[in-house]
This record gives sequence, C-alpha cells and structure tokens, in this order.
Amino acid sequence: MAGILVLNGPNLNMLGVREPEVYGSATLADIEAMLRAEAGRWGVTLRFFQSNHEGALIDEIHAAFGRDDGILFNPGAYTHTSVALRDALASVGLPCVEVHLSNIHRREPFRHVSYIAPVALGQISGFGPYGYVLGLKALCRHLGLEER
Ligand code: DQA
Repeated sequence: MAGILVLNGPNLNMLGVREPEVYGSATLADIEAMLRAEAGRWGVTLRFFQSNHEGALIDEIHAAFGRDDGILFNPGAYTHTSVALRDALASVGLPCVEVHLSNIHRREPFRHVSYIAPVALGQISGFGPYGYVLGLKALCRHLGLEER
C-alpha cells in the first residue's frame, strides 16, 4: 500500500482560530479527516506531521525517504523563505504537491514567490481545505493509483 506524508508547516496548528477571514474555520483535524476519507478511496495510507520548526520539517522529509511514496506539503510561511526545505525535498526526490489554503498569488507580494514550487510536481492554491483533497488526488494519480 502506498504511503503519503501530509506535512504542515508553521502556524497551521492554529487553523480554525487563525485569521478565519483568510484561512476559514476548518481546523487541521478537520482537514485530516477530509484527507482520511479521500485516502480510503485510493487505498493509500497517510502519515500526518505538523511542526512550527524548520529543522523538524526537514528531519521529517528525510525520514520519508524510503518510507513514503509522496509528500503533500503546506509549508506555511517557509514557502517564501526556506532554501533548506527546498533542498530537503530535492535531496529525497519524492514527488511533492504544494498546497496553500489561500491564493498566495493574490496576496502580499512577498507571498508570490515560492521556494518550494520548483521542486514540486505542482502547486494548488486558493481552494481552502479542499485544496488538500485536490492535492492528494493529484499525487495518487501521479503514483499510478486509481480511485475506487
Ligand atoms: C499558507 C500561505 C502562506 O503565505 C502563509 O504564510 C501560511 C499559510 C496558506 O495555506 O495559504 O502560513 O501556506
């Protein structure tokens, strides 16, 4: 059975409380429940990890090497700053889909640049929690899986 790491970066543990006008009312637990339901349709197992620490995210990406088949990643603000996370993804070579709840391209200019996008299969941005589901579908299709 294929395994996918669902990785969330800084401040995403605060979803539901954090700037609801931007990020909506769903909590990270709500998003995880949506993903579990979707994963069942594809026969994949999910591993969830959230951290507010760049190094912990890097360690988890390294841990995914040889263990998981792909990464669904919302790097939060590290999207726009972290060469180290980008290098970690490039190091392990696992297919990665970048997800953002908000449309980062219609927000402040500093959010328009993603250090992650060049090492990702693609980016999904602006569809709220459903973006994670879209990302999981895309990753499963990329892995050659079929929806049941
Ligand atoms: C975010 C967008 C980032 O710019 C921001 O720093 C976040 C959340 C999103 O999901 O829309 O923390 O990744």
